[in-house]
Amino acid sequence: MTIKSSIVTSNQSGVHKDLESSIKKYFTNPYRKPYRPFTGDIFHQLDAAQKQVGKPIILDSGCGTGESSQQLAKLNPDALVIGIDKSEKRLEKLITQDSVYLQGNLVLARADVIDIWRMIKESDWIIKKHYLLYPNPWPKKDQLKRRWHGHPVFPEMISLCDHIELRTNWQIYAEEFKQALEIATNKKVLLDNIKVTDFISPFEKKYYDSGHELYRVTNSI
Ligand SMILES: C[S@@+](CC[C@H](N)C(=O)[O-])C[C@H]1O[C@@H](n2cnc3c(N)ncnc32)[C@H](O)[C@@H]1O
Repeated sequence: MTIKSSIVTSNQSGVHKDLESSIKKYFTNPYRKPYRPFTGDIFHQLDAAQKQVGKPIILDSGCGTGESSQQLAKLNPDALVIGIDKSEKRLEKLITQDSVYLQGNLVLARADVIDIWRMIKESDWIIKKHYLLYPNPWPKKDQLKRRWHGHPVFPEMISLCDHIELRTNWQIYAEEFKQALEIATNKKVLLDNIKVTDFISPFEKKYYDSGHELYRVTNSI
């Protein structure tokens, strides 16, 4: 039996009024929070893997159990797919706290992407696509800062790759992310509804089975 997921509800009725001002602020004041313990070690292992495999990277940030990363690796044999999630539970079958999982063109790691993104920015990685699949919506008005486009790391994150794809079941999240990318890059960004038949991730399947609308935001077509 599939457990149905409730539709996202919020005390926000549209794009957050502080979105534009917060983005402008983050571009003038770079995020400087110190890295968490272990992240440097994980990053070195990821860096060694990408040097060993030597292929352009597809990043799957907040990859959950890693099923989307596994699928992406099969669909993109010419790329190295790197899936990262901070959850202890979600990746525990495959990796321990201080190790990464490497098989063929797939690498999975447990880490906080807020640190990993900043480390990638200092590196020479070539990222051909960055997926943000079904991030936690943080739908309350006072939770803007927890959404990817409302977080101070947003400028660093979007600078890693020209091709970002975000999927969500909350229309306001999609509209905000689109607007945030347009403000930051001055380029047109596409928001569309997706009709999926092959599910890319467990949350995509769960939301589809629960009858939710699914939205996709992409900045290169
Ligand atoms: C709603 S789940 C979606 C999982 C998966 N992408 C999917 O579509 O099935 C959101 C995931 O983002 C992860 N996450 C949230 N913040 C994160 C962070 N700062 N670093 C790494 N992972 C994070 C959570 O642990 C969780 O697994």
